[in-house]
Amino acid sequence: MTAMSTRSEASPTRASGGLPSGDFIIDATALTKTYRMGTNEVHALRAVDLKVRAGEMIAVMGASGSGKSTLMNMLGCLDTPDSGSYLLDGVRVEGLSTNELADIRNQKLGFVFQGFNLLARTTAIDNVELPLLYDRTHRWSNPRATAIEALKKVGLGDRLDHVPSELSGGQQQRVAIARALVTSPRLLLADEPTGNLDSRTSVEIMALFQELNDEGITILLVTHEGDISRYAKRFIEMRDGRIIRDEDVDDRHIASVDLLTVDDPELAGTP
Ligand SMILES: Nc1ncnc2c1ncn2[C@@H]1O[C@H](COP(=O)(O)OP(=O)(O)OP(=O)(O)O)[C@@H](O)[C@H]1O
Ligand SMILES: [Mg+2]
Repeated sequence: MTAMSTRSEASPTRASGGLPSGDFIIDATALTKTYRMGTNEVHALRAVDLKVRAGEMIAVMGASGSGKSTLMNMLGCLDTPDSGSYLLDGVRVEGLSTNELADIRNQKLGFVFQGFNLLARTTAIDNVELPLLYDRTHRWSNPRATAIEALKKVGLGDRLDHVPSELSGGQQQRVAIARALVTSPRLLLADEPTGNLDSRTSVEIMALFQELNDEGITILLVTHEGDISRYAKRFIEMRDGRIIRDEDVDDRHIASVDLLTVDDPELAGTP
């Protein structure tokens, strides 16, 4: 396991960029979620507190069923907690209507999932343009050009008209990342973004995440792999609906450097 040191809530993180204390992207207190299945109760989240400052990059780990996706769904305003309070980039989330939640998701958040979740018969460019067309504030004067920029950003400027089946897994995840980025979100939430990818492609995706984080996007990602978590700046472990560890990653790896030495399957066997 990577070397880590316990974080002190009082000390601002290295990435806080001089923000005054209290200026959090995520400020969640006592988030609680219980699922009832017949007479059975599952305590998916038990009074979780989480504060995240702008510029952080956090990996969330924990056994299957420990509540990681439930937490991401609450933080992503995809579902509502039973109790607790949540300020997202200064906006109080509880009590918002369905439309207001959709707006806050569209304006502040980008999502990346393990299964890419692209529309199958739709080209890369159309997949990426979609969130701009759904934006009820109509703040995008040229959605097409904005979508092309996002695809160029993830290295797919030459794949605009490909549908998902004509792209590799890594390329499909890049399209999904472009779709998440195209609205210029403050926070990127990624639930096992490398779960369906081979190890080299996973490191490539982490290199892209680190580049985006260096440019200022705050990133929270769930992973099952310790190797992936060491690309984050902060590490959180969940168990039974609680955060049981919350530490800085001391020996953070730089994915673009690791790529220089990681095995390239296409080169394997070449003399
Ligand atoms: N919609 C739901 N209805 C009932 N129970 C649920 C629901 N969603 C999650 N749960 C339960 O809540 C607990 C936490 O689930 P969650 O999906 O957050 O786990 P996870 O940490 O993401 O696991 P994994 O690593 O397998 O993705 C589990 O016991 C799960 O069975
Ligand atoms: Mg999950």
